[in-house]
Amino acid sequence: MRENSARWLAAGDAESIAAALAARFAQVFEQEPAGVWFAPGRANLNGEHIDFHGGRCLPVALRHGTYVAAAARTDGVLRLRTLDPKLDEGLIEIDVAGLSRERTGADAGFSAPIQGSGARSFSDAAGSPALEGTPSWTAYVSGVLWALGQIGEEHPELTLEPGYGADLLIRSTLPIGAGLSSSASLECAAALAFAATGTPLGAENPKEELNEALTDALRAVLAQVCIRAEVEVVGAGTGGLDQNASLRAAKGKLMSLDCRDFSMTRTDLTFLLRDYQFLAIDTGQPHELADGKFRSRRVEAEAATAALGVERLRDALPAKPRKTDMELLLERFDQAVKNGTDFGGLEAEACRRRLKHALGEMLRSEKIHALVTAEAHGVSHTAQTLGDMLSAGHTSMREQAEVSFRLADQVVDAALQFGALGARLIGGGFGGSVLALVPRAQLDDLVGVCSRLSPEIRFLEVTPSAAARAV
Ligand code: GLA
Repeated sequence: MRENSARWLAAGDAESIAAALAARFAQVFEQEPAGVWFAPGRANLNGEHIDFHGGRCLPVALRHGTYVAAAARTDGVLRLRTLDPKLDEGLIEIDVAGLSRERTGADAGFSAPIQGSGARSFSDAAGSPALEGTPSWTAYVSGVLWALGQIGEEHPELTLEPGYGADLLIRSTLPIGAGLSSSASLECAAALAFAATGTPLGAENPKEELNEALTDALRAVLAQVCIRAEVEVVGAGTGGLDQNASLRAAKGKLMSLDCRDFSMTRTDLTFLLRDYQFLAIDTGQPHELADGKFRSRRVEAEAATAALGVERLRDALPAKPRKTDMELLLERFDQAVKNGTDFGGLEAEACRRRLKHALGEMLRSEKIHALVTAEAHGVSHTAQTLGDMLSAGHTSMREQAEVSFRLADQVVDAALQFGALGARLIGGGFGGSVLALVPRAQLDDLVGVCSRLSPEIRFLEVTPSAAARAV
């Protein structure tokens, strides 16, 4: 019933959506697709803006995500169409070989996630002539195909056949730009479609057999492919949280992702979800990650890291960091400012706030990790502690990271007032969604109150779900 209300964004039934998409594919491309692949979006309980500092993130995969129906081509052409009415411009054709030439030229985009304030603008990387005239969303797909083609001999099972191209029809059940990782879910669904239809791994493991064949190690490789696409082709500064969550999550589980090396543990959350529900509240204000704001926050945080004299911020903290460790680092930063550290025109106070956010977020992540991986705590203790962490995370997003906005603050306040144990803005910020932990008994009241804040607000049930797969 909830799934049918206009305020709720339904995830739908994967098999039915895949069947309808396959039928539509046959109409658009006049042939049957080789299959349909799905990759989920994510909600992150803690660890925003710290994946690129090597921090720990705590995502769950959603039931909502992106579906891709695809068939291979042998002429090196990629043909794409999305069924999203806001993005659909009919069939888009991209020459895959042309994309490769661009990327290996002198003007190739980022070779690594940005570091320091002198980094080139994200948008420099997106200006590839091979992508000229194509809608910007298509770079998330063509970028993945390009990055997969760069894998080379290290992973022969994932090597694309020469001249590989593909026809793709795309449909998403995620709101776009809502901080729920719609871009990464598109990348990851495309990556599976390409792996399935263009590599030895796909040839040897047809249809759903691919799901078994895709070990966690191979999924981590595909996550790197998608990260590379987003950083080098799209030109957005992703730190890897979204792609790893989409490709490596597990049903019923919270992922604890150590972004130093992308190792992870998964903890069962079903004990908690009997009485409590995670709820994503999409404010209806979309963000644009490839624009300057996300980048400027990251650049400031990296300038603060450099002032501490470390390469990667997480390495400045011990394995089990405490508040005093954070305070010492903030003092060290203040000392560096006194000593006349050059921030390349950035405001030292702003850099300090980004630093404080990142360190606080790292501490909270480690605390939650310890909480959920420890032997049984009571359900209500776990729920309350998680709730407190969510709310502390929001305060930091608002005051230190400065990525929150009025409607998100109002949603958090309303949620807390009407029974949520905690609530926070998730994703990159400057738009997007709030995640709340709500006792099931309070859910309807809370939804009613939040709905009144804006006609654009939508709700998504956050049910920890399985990773990307052939449907
Ligand atoms: C975006 C990026 C991620 C991460 C989050 C914020 O989603 O793609 O890598 O940095 O923002 O945590």
